[in-house]
Amino acid sequence: MADQPTLNTGSHDLPVTPALEAFMAGQWAATPLPADERVPGYAFFPARRARLAAAFPGERLLVPAGQLKIRSNDCDYRFRPYSGYAHLTGLTGEEQVGHVLVVEPDGEPVLYLRPRSDRSGGSGGSGGSGGSGEFYRDRRYGEFWVGRRADLAEAAQLTGLRTAHLDDLPKLFTGSVPTRIAAGIDPVLDELAGRPSAASAVLDGQFAAALSELRLVKDAWEIEQLQLSVDHTARGFEDVVRALPAALRHHRGERWLEGAFNARARAEGNGTGYETIVASGAHACVLHWIRNDGPLDPNKLLLLDAGVETDTLYTADITRTLPLSGTFTSAQRDVYDLVLAAQSAGIATLRPGASFREFHRAGMRVIAEGLAEWGLLPVSAEEALRDDSGLYRRYTLCGSGHMLGLDVHDCAKARAETYLDGVLEEGMVLTVEPGLYLQPDDLTLPAELRGIGVRIEDDLVITADGARLMSGALPRDPAAIESWMAALLP
Ligand code: GLY
Ligand code: MN
Ligand code: MN
Repeated sequence: MADQPTLNTGSHDLPVTPALEAFMAGQWAATPLPADERVPGYAFFPARRARLAAAFPGERLLVPAGQLKIRSNDCDYRFRPYSGYAHLTGLTGEEQVGHVLVVEPDGEPVLYLRPRSDRSGGSGGSGGSGGSGEFYRDRRYGEFWVGRRADLAEAAQLTGLRTAHLDDLPKLFTGSVPTRIAAGIDPVLDELAGRPSAASAVLDGQFAAALSELRLVKDAWEIEQLQLSVDHTARGFEDVVRALPAALRHHRGERWLEGAFNARARAEGNGTGYETIVASGAHACVLHWIRNDGPLDPNKLLLLDAGVETDTLYTADITRTLPLSGTFTSAQRDVYDLVLAAQSAGIATLRPGASFREFHRAGMRVIAEGLAEWGLLPVSAEEALRDDSGLYRRYTLCGSGHMLGLDVHDCAKARAETYLDGVLEEGMVLTVEPGLYLQPDDLTLPAELRGIGVRIEDDLVITADGARLMSGALPRDPAAIESWMAALLP
């Protein structure tokens, strides 16, 4: 094929003249980080890294923060580091793009990072500390474009880690040291690991499982962060109730409410821990309704499932189902009461040593018995609950809880024997969230029940002898919900 002509597609930015380059290279004051600045929770990270190192003695372990992802053209999605990286470093900011925590075979952790660039104004170069003029020329990494990063010494001070330049990372892929990499997080690392010279590097599931399992039991600082997240989330729910009159007038009231919650999430924390679900009426029967483009019908229910992610990246996950009129109708109340009874039965099982699946089983028993009593099941509750039947699931659809932490569905890669088929331990944090989703087109249902969706979701921490409800600031009882709404509404 003939040589393709070079396309001149232009740039927003004018070329830098030699005169400008020289002018930019000097007369900048030193702006060091305060000498006492540390990552929040500083004292808790060494123990986590030591536990990981002890699980893979003599091996090199790579935990990446991840890379930017293109949203469109030259715009990227906002960056949020991989939870496994945040959990082991305490570094949670957008400037962590491309950074990698390496645990050496002797257990020493080293942080590979792109250090703050210096203020020399030279042209060319790939960024980092060498005089590339990156600080004012680079749209993705330049300090004058996206903000300051730490230099190597500052990152060491912040984290207590030894630090190294990211440019030196590829050297780790040339020797014979057995190396494990958390796969699928950073395409640059995945590519390096795939090179023939990197025969000793593996992208393996065992390491991903270990990173997940390391987070199953939360330490005291993590539980504080989760409580903070729950508290911010409760305020966000109050904001949503206060916004109801305006939202009811708007043709896309669901979006209006999403905005109200998300404003609180962004103001108090890093944002939402997952896409906010605002589901009015029959939209509540769609488990992950995040289109949120419907109007609000004052005679229907509103299902709000939302969580504020703290700056330290811990998220709550709470659902309340509210009557938009401020008062439940009797059909709405019947469905609500059954879900609440199921949730209470589930919560009552939580204690160290209980199997993880027990709260779900207890809740589903209550639901199946209720559905049978209403005459909705073609078989008895007992039969519907049998493993080879599950007919009640036409109306419940999904599981009713999960671990919670840095990820909304935390520890998702843990081995079944430690999580789904395991037992609860003190310090685990989880949701209990049964629901009934009575589809609007379900011919097994009487007309008055069609299109009602109810989920009640709370966050709990397992204690020495039971569980503590972290989200108790938000009412669950229907009468308490009505009075809570009345107090918030004008
Ligand atoms: N908001 C997702 C969930 O409840 O699991
Ligand atoms: Mn959940
Ligand atoms: Mn949820």
